[in-house]
Amino acid sequence: MSDKQTEHPKIAPPSGRLGVMLPGLGAVATTFVAGVEAVRRGLAQPIGSITQMGTIRLGKRTEARRPLIKDFVRLASLSDLEFAAWDPIPDDGLESARVAGVLGEAHLREVGDFLATIKPLPAVFSQDYVKKLKGENVKQGANKRELAEALRADIRRFREERGCDRLVMVWCASTEVFLSPGPVHQSIEAFEEGLEKSDPGISPSMIYAYAAIQERVPFANGAPNLTVDIPALRELAIARRVPIAGKDFKTGQTLMKTILAPGLKARMLGLQGWFSTNILGNRDGEVLDDPESFKTKEESKLGVLHHILQPELYPVLYDNFYHKVRINYYPPRGDNKEGWDNIDIIGWLGYPMQIKIDFLCRDSILAAPIVLDLALFLDLAQRANMSGIQEWLSFYFKSPMTAPDLYPEHDLFIQLTKLKNTLRWLMGEVPITHLGVEYYDEYLREA
Ligand SMILES: NC(=O)c1ccc[n+]([C@@H]2O[C@H](COP(=O)([O-])OP(=O)(O)OC[C@H]3O[C@@H](n4cnc5c(N)ncnc54)[C@H](O)[C@@H]3O)[C@@H](O)[C@H]2O)c1
Repeated sequence: MSDKQTEHPKIAPPSGRLGVMLPGLGAVATTFVAGVEAVRRGLAQPIGSITQMGTIRLGKRTEARRPLIKDFVRLASLSDLEFAAWDPIPDDGLESARVAGVLGEAHLREVGDFLATIKPLPAVFSQDYVKKLKGENVKQGANKRELAEALRADIRRFREERGCDRLVMVWCASTEVFLSPGPVHQSIEAFEEGLEKSDPGISPSMIYAYAAIQERVPFANGAPNLTVDIPALRELAIARRVPIAGKDFKTGQTLMKTILAPGLKARMLGLQGWFSTNILGNRDGEVLDDPESFKTKEESKLGVLHHILQPELYPVLYDNFYHKVRINYYPPRGDNKEGWDNIDIIGWLGYPMQIKIDFLCRDSILAAPIVLDLALFLDLAQRANMSGIQEWLSFYFKSPMTAPDLYPEHDLFIQLTKLKNTLRWLMGEVPITHLGVEYYDEYLREA
């Protein structure tokens, strides 16, 4: 069998500059931009980023081909990134990073000059969708269509002024109130009519996503908001040949869940209950203190265990396990969240055991490299002419988007295999199945 595939997409090279446009210039966005600049200045390592630090095995184990992912698939280089952001709060990147309190003064001194150059553009924002925020840096328009047009004009201006060859947009703004898909989300026509009539079912995040897709800018959704996860915008993404991905960056407690739960299932250990509680005191925590925004987050966090453990396949082990997730806004902690998990598991002969996790986590430190990877991989997807939902990026999300009839894959290790096999496929290398019988066939032939 050859190690090369014959059919694989042609990929345009990452030449020129890549503009990264960020709705939301809060804790995650400023930590991301500051980190990229610190790496560019040789002051830090891009820890946590698969695109910068990850390697990929190609071919057989005996071939010892293990390039860095960024060399293998030719990703945009950090030195070619340009940044822009929108935010209803007018603070520049440096002021916003100070409020967020993620980075220490030493880091802010090193890259603060660069952060201060990022001045947020007026946002498409309404308190109807984020109750706990007030902001004056907001666009005005007669209806939602005009607001979408204003965002499209921002995108075109940024592309031109910064001489960007390509753009990507990553939603780093607040979690909006819970919205269920309705008639206005079912087709492009209904959605555009809804923009004209300022239908309340169309949230600000959907207006950004619509503007991005119309401008052929790939879009990733870092929050649990419905946003692009509706037929209208999924269809538009395919029609405009734009890659999209979502939802909700996988950090903190959910990251831990999707690492641990596959291990418990792999060993056929049962689960009686998983209780997760958090304290956090950043602006995100304040927004999530509103029950309607929390409901959006809760839906995103609760699905994970069910999909990984498959109680319908393993009723003896996982029927009726109790799963609770709480987020408590506790200002003294700022961005330094603490998350506790109590996990009640059962083993041989039904004997109970307990696992306790106390994760002293830094949310935005875990989220920033995800923003970078999504920006670079979505750009790769577009250069490879891929469009619509990029399920291979599920690795980065709490609620991965899938084709309408598919269940999402939550297991972190399956997600990583899928991501790497997609990269191999893109470059004409065979996927790695870990079957490995060929090594023994060869050995027997030689013996
Ligand atoms: N930090 C993490 O680990 C993590 C993990 C998963 C998801 N998220 C999500 O990422 C998002 C950002 O998190 P954060 O900690 O940076 O929050 P943050 O509150 O520090 O920043 C969000 C920013 O978005 C702005 N904003 C709100 N509505 C906007 C709009 N319509 N247009 C433009 N800007 C708008 C706010 O003013 C704020 O500055 C949140 O939705 C959060 O739930 C974060």
